[in-house]
Amino acid sequence: MVMEILRHIVVYLHIIGFAVLFGAWLVEAVARRAHFTRLMSIGMTIAAVTGLALAAPWGISYELNYVKLGVKLVVLLAIGAILGIGAARQRREGSVPSALFWSIGILTLLNAGLAVIWR
Ligand code: HEM
Repeated sequence: MVMEILRHIVVYLHIIGFAVLFGAWLVEAVARRAHFTRLMSIGMTIAAVTGLALAAPWGISYELNYVKLGVKLVVLLAIGAILGIGAARQRREGSVPSALFWSIGILTLLNAGLAVIWR
């Protein structure tokens, strides 16, 4: 009972991490700025820490889909690498190459889609 509630709280924090990462990205996209912001890194970090905690089988009575979780981890590492490379380019050139910028939005939506569509 306590473990179930605790897990649901971690899922809640995980969704907040997603919202912060995607929201921060969407603000830049709508403003037509190919910029990476600190809020994107903060959202990604929240999603990463809580996602890793959720990848362990506690507080549930069903089996986790570890193939899906492995794919989500690879996507997360790609997001981290792209945010890192893009931030370096941004420091040197003032903005992020648009392919790198768009891939953050796409990969973030991909990970959210994998979570809810692939059971
Ligand atoms: C940027 C990276 C990520 C994003 C945007 C993201 C997004 C989401 C979203 C939107 C949900 C839906 C919650 C629900 O079920 O209602 C979710 C669930 C979940 N995520 Fe992530 N996630 C990310 C990374 C990760 C990582 C790295 C892991 C672990 C390897 C992970 C593990 C999980 C687990 C275990 C759930 C619970 C539902 C399930 O079992 O599929 N996530 N994620």
